[in-house]
Amino acid sequence: MTDIEICHSSCHSRRMTTNPNPSPPSPSSEPAPRRRLGTTGPAVFPLGLGCMGMSALYGESDRAESLATVHAALDAGVTLLDTGDFYGMGHNELLINEALRTAPAAAREKALTSVKFGALRTVEGGFTGYDGRPAAVKNFLAYSLQRLGRDHIDIYRIARVDPDVPIEETVGAIAEAVEAGHVRHIGLSEVGADTLRRAASVAPIADLQIEYSLISRGIEDRILPTARELGIGITAYGVLSRGLISGHFGRDRALAPGDFRGMSPRFQGDNLDRNLDLVDALRKVAGGKGVSVAQTAIAWVLSRGEDIVPLVGARRRDRLAEALGAMEVTLDAADLAAIEEAVPAGAAAGERYPSAQMAHLDSEH
Ligand SMILES: NC(=O)c1ccc[n+]([C@@H]2O[C@H](COP(=O)([O-])OP(=O)(O)OC[C@H]3O[C@@H](n4cnc5c(N)ncnc54)[C@H](OP(=O)(O)O)[C@@H]3O)[C@@H](O)[C@H]2O)c1
Repeated sequence: MTDIEICHSSCHSRRMTTNPNPSPPSPSSEPAPRRRLGTTGPAVFPLGLGCMGMSALYGESDRAESLATVHAALDAGVTLLDTGDFYGMGHNELLINEALRTAPAAAREKALTSVKFGALRTVEGGFTGYDGRPAAVKNFLAYSLQRLGRDHIDIYRIARVDPDVPIEETVGAIAEAVEAGHVRHIGLSEVGADTLRRAASVAPIADLQIEYSLISRGIEDRILPTARELGIGITAYGVLSRGLISGHFGRDRALAPGDFRGMSPRFQGDNLDRNLDLVDALRKVAGGKGVSVAQTAIAWVLSRGEDIVPLVGARRRDRLAEALGAMEVTLDAADLAAIEEAVPAGAAAGERYPSAQMAHLDSEH
């Protein structure tokens, strides 16, 4: 298959929908589509559900709707649920625990948990650093297992490299947890090519979780080729740039105190204006195909390769249904060229994190 006609779901052949708000794919006897996370990782549904916004960083969330969204995702075939122990200081893991306890047994058994650890927080919600010492890894893991109510975590990763602890030691501690049966696979988050290589020399790495979208293409130069060389999959986050390129974010949107987007450079002043101009250009392409802006943006990430699994940050069932509709979208060469013209590489105004947080990104060094 060339990039002239890329079908995103390796095991099925759904065609492009013309409904911008389609329902999630209905259960059928067809085998669920799958993408494998690296050469050693699990096979997962092509879209994962990122649960962060249900507990933190994007303002208030509705608990009942969050639970219903996780259930709807599992019902549609989603297998990978992504969280972090620091998302709402354990709130997100407890939410996933409840969602899985109250889900049908078959869905619960297929669910895979992907958990980030290592962030050090304050009572006020600040971030004070990262702890990747082996003893800390085991401590974080013990608490996460308890909060999740599971006897293992499917993919475990440090959220950011601890600059005081060699990555080999942090990954080595997770490898010991794999040996002990408490973790199934090792992942990484926001690391650069050199760290990927060092980590992979210690133990098999299933996936690298990293921001990747039409307006965040930094991984394409070195990180993605290195991951491919090493047989490491990508779980892409921020595929809608935290809602900025979803088509639902307006210039007049009021943000709650503590909302990440209130501090993110891409959501400020002139940067926001310029970025929303890009969204307007993308809206024309999406409209021409009869799909939504968010579906186009997610489909673009899906089209980058079978080794890439976008995590969508839906926290409502309507947003989830829209995101799942992206799996129906086929982008041909003309579509990809039109998307590139609307949102050329490097076109985003502003960095993807505030400068203090950029400094923690091994992937940006
Ligand atoms: N490893 C890391 O460093 C890292 C960092 C950040 C996130 N993550 C993980 O990646 C996941 C996804 O990240 P993200 O939340 O920033 O990604 P995202 O999918 O780019 O953005 C999610 C936001 O987009 C808005 N949105 C609008 N239409 C949507 C649609 N159809 N489907 C989904 N969202 C829609 C939602 O806002 P409304 O709810 O207001 O509509 C939501 O707050 C997180 O939940 C987390 O698990 C990892």
